[in-house]
Amino acid sequence: MSQGYPNRQLRRLRYNPSLRAALSSVRLNKRELIAPIFASQSLSQRRVISTMPGQFQRPVSDAADYAASLADKGVGGVLVFGIPASKDASGSGAWNDEGVTQQCIREIKKRRAELLVIADTCLCEYTNHGHCGPLVEFGGKVDVDNAGALAGLAATAVSQAKSGADVIAPSACMDGQVRAIRTALDNAGFERTPILSYAVKFASSLYGPFREAAESAPKTGDRRSYQMDPLSPKQVMAEALADLEEGADMLMVKPALAYLDIIAQLATLPAPLAAYHVSGEYAMIKFAAAAGALRERDVAIEHTAALKRSGADLIITYFAEQLTDWLT
Ligand code: PBG
Ligand code: ZN
Repeated sequence: MSQGYPNRQLRRLRYNPSLRAALSSVRLNKRELIAPIFASQSLSQRRVISTMPGQFQRPVSDAADYAASLADKGVGGVLVFGIPASKDASGSGAWNDEGVTQQCIREIKKRRAELLVIADTCLCEYTNHGHCGPLVEFGGKVDVDNAGALAGLAATAVSQAKSGADVIAPSACMDGQVRAIRTALDNAGFERTPILSYAVKFASSLYGPFREAAESAPKTGDRRSYQMDPLSPKQVMAEALADLEEGADMLMVKPALAYLDIIAQLATLPAPLAAYHVSGEYAMIKFAAAAGALRERDVAIEHTAALKRSGADLIITYFAEQLTDWLT
């Protein structure tokens, strides 16, 4: 029997809305959405992030109140970014037990103990040069010191876990960061705290709005000596397998939409997978919608569905709050 037209007419599956609904198998669930939040140590009032309409830098108590409201809406969790009042060359504010991220985590846990709180573990918000670890000179060139960064990241993870973080998410792209953090957590008695590794994080042009939000743009140079080259796909599996071997419990791909091939590839590994729909992806939708070029809600749902279809288990997105509203 012929499988082609006119015997096979795929539109026959689409005329009837009830059949269409019955066959619609991708399910968006608000519990798999993670909302990034920005807590500032120096602000006494919320500040608009101009390149991310609808997102704010918030004083710690406001960030915690906001997290509580997200918990009440059923969001899966929050990803906490801290913006400290002062910075130094090593980023030592990151592992200060009284630091802004630590304070924010404690305030969230006071309000909603059950809300999943993920701590972004990096140093770029805390270094005065904006790189993800301390700098060192090597062969006449200044670049991030891998070993120095590992020590700082490990101390930061322990401090974040002490303050109540449920999950540690290292994003500095240093070699060995997962092992260093795993060892430090275990030694400090946090052997039950899982690591969500930003294993496959590209040196992307889509992080611009975030760097305004987190005040973490590098003052000189770029991050291409540590974040991945989008044009070198062979390194993807190597990074993912290395992190699993070092003790990562979950993996992340970042950004999301331009890397669906990679999400689909890593979805075959036996570890939960997160996709980070980043600030630039959010901004593209927001500004296009504001210009009347598209409908924000429909596009946000379409993007999120694409991430699910590709195999993401968790979706980190600035649309988390709106999606939870839209999905109820
Ligand atoms: C810090 C970090 C960045 C993002 C998350 N963690 C920025 C960067 O690597 O420069 C980007 C998130 C976004 O754009 O939404 N290492
Ligand atoms: Zn960083």
